[in-house]
Amino acid sequence: MAMCSTIVVVVVLVATATAAEETRCPGTTSSFRRKQAAMEDMPMDADVFAVPPGPNAPQQVHITLGDHAGTAMTVSWVTTEEAGNSTVLYGRAMDKLDMAAEGTHTRYKYYNYTSGFIHHCTLTNLEMCIRDSYYAMGFGHTVRTLWFTTPPRPGPDVPFRLGLIGDLGQTFHSNDTLTHYEATGGDAVLFMGDLSYADKHPLHDNNRWDTWGRFSERSVAYQPWIWVTGNHEVDYAPELGETKPFKPFTHRYPTPHLASDSPEPYWYSVKLASAHIIVLSSYSAFAKYTPQYKWLEAELASVNRSETPWLIMASHSPWYNSNNFHYMEGEPMRVQFEQMAVDVRVDLVFSGHVHAYERSFRVSNIRYNITDGQCTPVRDRRAPVYITIGDGGNIEGPADEMTHPQPAYSAFREDSFGHAVLDIKNRTHAYYAWYRNDDGAKVAADTVWFTNRFHMPNHDDSTPKKRHY
Ligand SMILES: *[C@@H]1O[C@H](CO)[C@@H](O)[C@H](O)[C@H]1NC(C)=O
Ligand SMILES: *[C@@H]1O[C@H](CO)[C@@H](O)[C@H](O)[C@H]1NC(C)=O
Ligand SMILES: *[C@@H]1O[C@H](CO)[C@@H](O)[C@H](O)[C@H]1NC(C)=O
Ligand SMILES: *[C@@H]1O[C@H](CO)[C@@H](O)[C@H](O)[C@H]1NC(C)=O
Ligand SMILES: *[C@@H]1O[C@H](CO)[C@@H](O)[C@H](O)[C@H]1NC(C)=O
Ligand SMILES: *[C@@H]1O[C@H](CO)[C@@H](O)[C@H](O)[C@H]1NC(C)=O
Ligand SMILES: [Fe+2]
Repeated sequence: MAMCSTIVVVVVLVATATAAEETRCPGTTSSFRRKQAAMEDMPMDADVFAVPPGPNAPQQVHITLGDHAGTAMTVSWVTTEEAGNSTVLYGRAMDKLDMAAEGTHTRYKYYNYTSGFIHHCTLTNLEMCIRDSYYAMGFGHTVRTLWFTTPPRPGPDVPFRLGLIGDLGQTFHSNDTLTHYEATGGDAVLFMGDLSYADKHPLHDNNRWDTWGRFSERSVAYQPWIWVTGNHEVDYAPELGETKPFKPFTHRYPTPHLASDSPEPYWYSVKLASAHIIVLSSYSAFAKYTPQYKWLEAELASVNRSETPWLIMASHSPWYNSNNFHYMEGEPMRVQFEQMAVDVRVDLVFSGHVHAYERSFRVSNIRYNITDGQCTPVRDRRAPVYITIGDGGNIEGPADEMTHPQPAYSAFREDSFGHAVLDIKNRTHAYYAWYRNDDGAKVAADTVWFTNRFHMPNHDDSTPKKRHY
């Protein structure tokens, strides 16, 4: 470790003028080994899957941002006995629900499963609610009243705690991850895709979408989760006659894509406090000339770093991953988008998919042009840090086959379950911590102070001095 620090200091002195630089400071493959245990979904009668009491009671309540600037919230819920009422009343206090929004409901069939009545309702003008918003639904039958904190108005120094969870599923480990996230606390979750893993059950048993909705409600009804679409949302099963990709997901989990001029729900952007978050779809076309490519080009040009200095991207499949699981699956998107991400100085790129944890140094691999042979990632202070956090603890178990030796771009990696929180302090500094499930909720296993690429572009922040294992 002393060696490593010395080398970094030399590099800083010699190479401050060049953006791209190499160093031999090695990354860490954590020696921590989590206990291998059977990975089974929690049984259908588990406490976390309990149906709320009362006739036709709204269940599976979840909220997500309803516009681009955090002044709207979309509320979704399911009723099972009859459609009932899609109206949401909301306001500043439980006894002062003086605003109303009219929602809609939908249903879908999947093979021989028929969903309940899935309601979606967007609450607008939230700036009227100074801090807490209370909302109620289920009129005519069982009314449930819940609450969330109204998102702060975007601005360069607005602090915000962004939870980071991926590939959660519904095992006992998933429950640990959620419990630990609740204990560390965050204002919203950027969810890296792969929600319920219903498709791991015979006939893609969509009842497992319902159980996941009831399980996750205890967090996502009270703070917005921002959804990235994963491969387990595709649900493409021609053998079952199900040929419309993303059918259950799109019926259940709306995204505010229209607010950022995206034609599809799978890629879009939102502003939250001092962050501009761009969600990409690994499972939609992204080659040049496709809608997603054109959208991203326009989107990156429209980001205002004076207003939202923190530029974050998320895609389900990681661009940098040193695990044999899903190795190189994110490579086509990296090749297509990495230059753009470096050019605009993206701060962080989050992914899931690989059921392990990994954080990169600031690296880029954008010199290669087929004939020049320069295809090795190099240290690059202009570049994002890549974080793979597909370690929510789902039914498929951990991805426990790292490639050896650890590639030079990889700063820290471990085959465990956990979650992370990005604690944005102001326009220049954000404290990032990854929490391993096995340690209990309060022990961070990988921590870094990130500095902002717009306001502190030359600061080398991706080589932390101190780590815990
Ligand atoms: C899930 O976690 C919660 C909170 O810790 C706990 O109350 C509940 O009993 C757990 N459920 C299962 C099935 O482990
Ligand atoms: C769907 O089909 C499976 C397999 O035939 C069967 O076990 C299940 O009970 C059916 N479900 C419904 C709702 O009909
Ligand atoms: C739904 O409930 C609200 C609140 O009680 C009420 O104002 C509205 O008329 C109801 N809508 C329908 C279609 O019954
Ligand atoms: C960018 O944001 C700043 C701060 O909110 C604002 O003053 C400025 O007008 C914005 N620039 C553009 C081009 O919208
Ligand atoms: C590829 O890079 C090499 C080395 O820099 C350069 O000589 C060559 O012209 C480049 N090829 C193209 C097509 O740009
Ligand atoms: C930003 O936050 C960091 C970490 O808390 C602090 O050291 C720094 O002084 C803050 N900068 C400003 C301008 O407040
Ligand atoms: Fe995945």
